Amino acid sequence: MSAHPSYPAAPMTSPVSAKKKAQLLPTQAFLAKLFHWINLISLIIMITSGLQIYNANPVFGGRAGWHFPDLFLLGGWLAGGRKWHFAAMWFFSLNLLWYGVYVFVSRRWQRRYASASDLQVLQTGQNPKRKNYAWHRVAYTAIIPMLLLAILSGLAMYKPAQFHWLSALFINWQTLRTVHFITVPVVLLFTLAHSFLALKVGNFRLVKSMFT
Ligand code: HEM
Repeated sequence: MSAHPSYPAAPMTSPVSAKKKAQLLPTQAFLAKLFHWINLISLIIMITSGLQIYNANPVFGGRAGWHFPDLFLLGGWLAGGRKWHFAAMWFFSLNLLWYGVYVFVSRRWQRRYASASDLQVLQTGQNPKRKNYAWHRVAYTAIIPMLLLAILSGLAMYKPAQFHWLSALFINWQTLRTVHFITVPVVLLFTLAHSFLALKVGNFRLVKSMFT
């Protein structure tokens, strides 16, 4: 297996002892860290304020249906929830936009994202470490379209007159709001799987390297 791309390479001339090697911290690009911080904070605000909006008019089961407990809500009431939701929307979507531009302009996607070789490893590979690494890359590659779906389905509900063509892609209003809602458990499950795989691939030091 090739070295983890975010770990500093050991100097060729002086062999690094096993103990020293274990102390080397993985490095992450500053912009990848910035993306993570803004993404995480804005996602927490978007989800908690979104649940506040949901509680005002539950999609599943009507007014007498399932309501989320106050602990997970932000905004106090419907209008408050909408204000938080639409304010955080700008941070969340502009963050994804600049990060997408950065990934393409710097060609980062070629090194950091899932490739044909990862898919091959998952099918025929024998090395469990390399397989975990491939799963991890597949997971964080696959979540990007899901974040886009959350934004686009939200936009279609936010401005249905201006983006009527976008709303029309989701067949009807109930399907549109259900798709928007389903992106939440998907993102939450992804975050769990992504954290678990990050720990398996590079233990706590790798997780720490992304947030410090
Ligand atoms: C929905 C939330 C998240 C999304 C969308 C996300 C997305 C991503 C993406 C796209 C990358 C590749 C970054 C790059 O190199 O340009 C990445 C890497 C990484 N993420 Fe996340 N992430 C999320 C949450 C988290 C959380 C909560 C943790 C901590 C447990 C975490 C830890 C990491 C680590 C350690 C890497 C580096 C992996 C490596 O170097 O192999 N992420 N994430």
